[in-house]
Amino acid sequence: MNSPEGKAILALVRCGDFAHAGEEEAIRIAMAGVLPDPARRVVDAGCGRGGTADYLIRHGLGRVTAFDIDGESVHHAAERYPAVDFHVADAGSVDRAIPGPFDLVTCFNSFYAFPQEEALAALRRLAATGARLLIFDYTDPAERFAGSDFAHLEDNGLWRPVHPGKLRSMALDAGWELTGWDDLTDRYVGWYDELLANMERHREAVITSHGEEAFEFVRTFYRALHDALANGVLGGGCFRLVAVAG
Ligand SMILES: C[S@@+](CC[C@H](N)C(=O)[O-])C[C@H]1O[C@@H](n2cnc3c(N)ncnc32)[C@H](O)[C@@H]1O
Repeated sequence: MNSPEGKAILALVRCGDFAHAGEEEAIRIAMAGVLPDPARRVVDAGCGRGGTADYLIRHGLGRVTAFDIDGESVHHAAERYPAVDFHVADAGSVDRAIPGPFDLVTCFNSFYAFPQEEALAALRRLAATGARLLIFDYTDPAERFAGSDFAHLEDNGLWRPVHPGKLRSMALDAGWELTGWDDLTDRYVGWYDELLANMERHREAVITSHGEEAFEFVRTFYRALHDALANGVLGGGCFRLVAVAG
């Protein structure tokens, strides 16, 4: 859900500025093992409305820069979370828009929408050698996505859910070594069960601020996403990479 209005609806339903599965619980899982360090230089890539960047600062995980290609969402984020340094930038060329280096790069349900080869290269140019890259995202381990009904809904054909083997070689070409990943598919299914239930709970509020058509569109989309996860067409995971010397 990459439109500014889609993200605003999700924020209402999730009671927080998140457009990724699992909200704060997902950040805790992805960041497990990353100790607090207020001096760490962090960049949140594809930050949306800024809830994740704010979480990282509030939990002492670093000084946070964040960027997104969607100017409207970045504008909201910059007004709401002044402690974060927000930018409008494309992940495929972000090193031309933001000065590095960074010690940690985070991508929460944004990498699937990036031009991935270009983004890995641009993020590597922004990262210090030894920096970490965390990619929390949809996965396609069985390569069932491209032929699925879900891929043919709206503009979902542009999605590139992560195939672990392909990510390993694509990332290495850009100077990132994949050191491990966790399959979180069962959690993703549970998170989207909860999201659908919360959507019903916030139905009136969403319709009041965005209209019935927008509510129906978002509900239909997330039912289809939930079913794609529950049927094994998509998965969810968290990938850990390290910037290696070129
Ligand atoms: C599903 S949202 C997730 C947003 C945020 N990470 C979060 O967890 O709330 C995906 C985000 O990726 C952004 N995005 C898509 N393509 C991008 C690109 N090429 N460069 C930067 N951001 C991009 C979208 O605008 C959107 O905000």
